[in-house]
Amino acid sequence: MTSQELLYEGKAKKVFDTDVPGTVIVEFKDDATALNGEKRGRIAEKGIANAAISSKLFPLLEAQGIPTHFREQLDARRLAVDLLQMIPLEVVVRNRVAGSLEKRTGLQEGTVLDKAVLELYFKNDQLGDPLLNDDHIEVLGLANSAMLQQLRIQAMKINTILTAFFAQRQLILVDFKLEFGLRDGQLVLGDEISPDTCRIWDENTLKKLDKDRFRRDLGGVEEAYHEVLTRVLS
Ligand code: TMP
Repeated sequence: MTSQELLYEGKAKKVFDTDVPGTVIVEFKDDATALNGEKRGRIAEKGIANAAISSKLFPLLEAQGIPTHFREQLDARRLAVDLLQMIPLEVVVRNRVAGSLEKRTGLQEGTVLDKAVLELYFKNDQLGDPLLNDDHIEVLGLANSAMLQQLRIQAMKINTILTAFFAQRQLILVDFKLEFGLRDGQLVLGDEISPDTCRIWDENTLKKLDKDRFRRDLGGVEEAYHEVLTRVLS
């Protein structure tokens, strides 16, 4: 497979066309942004860690019945994936209070939620990725109710699988963000699963091992990504 023209460059990834129809290459960058692009920086070898972590987690999900875009890891930073028709929603699942849920509810960070909370955000930089309800999503034509129902079921199943996987490695999956797309009309998990898109805490110390270290200038950012990589691969 040969990499061809650059189709898209995002904040953390580049997507290239290939000579294989329906297959694209995702390249993970070290660039990091937060606060809707207001904060910018680089996290050394983040792209390598995120590519490796995603390459472990997508097949894990696939093996448990979740269709994903993942095909193979090509090298340290590049994955071959299926081209999806992306649904412009950020699907957030939360097991504990953190981040914007802390701000929205006033609940203390770390509070365990009685049931997992699912939120849907409009992936739209100009609007600042606002929270949407199901009616908003339907009138915007982003997904119909059957698709939304399926999306919720898949996201909750992914939460169960990933929570157990991280727990086996003494890690708490606090929350995470997913993006889905369509492949031949079927709902498929796309994007990445990494410390950029998940909040992951050490089970014993509750130390943050994710992008919050960058967002909040906590230091030890590279070390945290490396720690998650080591445990995920263990
Ligand atoms: P939040 O608490 O800021 O809403 O974030 C919830 C989860 O979603 C957290 O694990 C980080 C992830 N996330 C992204 O991956 N991309 C984003 O643009 C945002 C806002 C959150």
